[in-house]
Amino acid sequence: MKRIVILISGRGSNMEAIVQRCAGEGWPAQVAAVIANRADAAGLVWAARQGIATTVVDHKAYPSREAFDAALAEAVDAHRPDLLLLAGFMRVLGAPFVQRYASRMMNIHPSLLPAFPGLHTHRRALEAGCQVAGATVHFVTAELDHGPIVMQAAVPVRPGDDEASLAARVLQAEHVIYPQAVRWFVEDRLEVDGLRVRHLDGASQLLI
Ligand code: GAR
Repeated sequence: MKRIVILISGRGSNMEAIVQRCAGEGWPAQVAAVIANRADAAGLVWAARQGIATTVVDHKAYPSREAFDAALAEAVDAHRPDLLLLAGFMRVLGAPFVQRYASRMMNIHPSLLPAFPGLHTHRRALEAGCQVAGATVHFVTAELDHGPIVMQAAVPVRPGDDEASLAARVLQAEHVIYPQAVRWFVEDRLEVDGLRVRHLDGASQLLI
């Protein structure tokens, strides 16, 4: 059984989707802990109700990014993860932290990377006149929102969309592709070659 630790900052709907599919589909894995950088992260309540260990490492309690990252790594390592997931975790992690979990840390980002790394992805996609938007699951590397891409989902931008309606459409797709990507990892179905990630059985890594 592989051990998964999930980092969140808020609602935690991606975390929920992963926990539910992991249990419902009998993956060779368990979500060992959910850790948040804010005590008010709503997802903590849901995770605790499922009997999952929850921890808060409040970034405001540390004098520097390095000190926060070190405390976070200690909290993560207490659960001996094979895979660390960022699921709406809204703190930038320093290079030593990223290096520590190299090749075993994934993130979901609400854009079709490499377009729109960073914040306000849906607003920027609308302002740019994009006809298509989406989300990307990728391995985390030191460069923000730039690691090897495991899976992407593309959704249409519809006339009349605003940030909220587009975000909702993308989020639905996130709930499909993030659990899928995690399942592939825990089943050892992924091969990473530089920035390219291949599914060993040739499964489609694109959801449209
Ligand atoms: C998701 O849309 C996720 O892609 C995004 O935050 C939301 C979290 O929702 N992540 C980022 O913007 C990371 N840069 P959730 O807490 O309900 O999963």
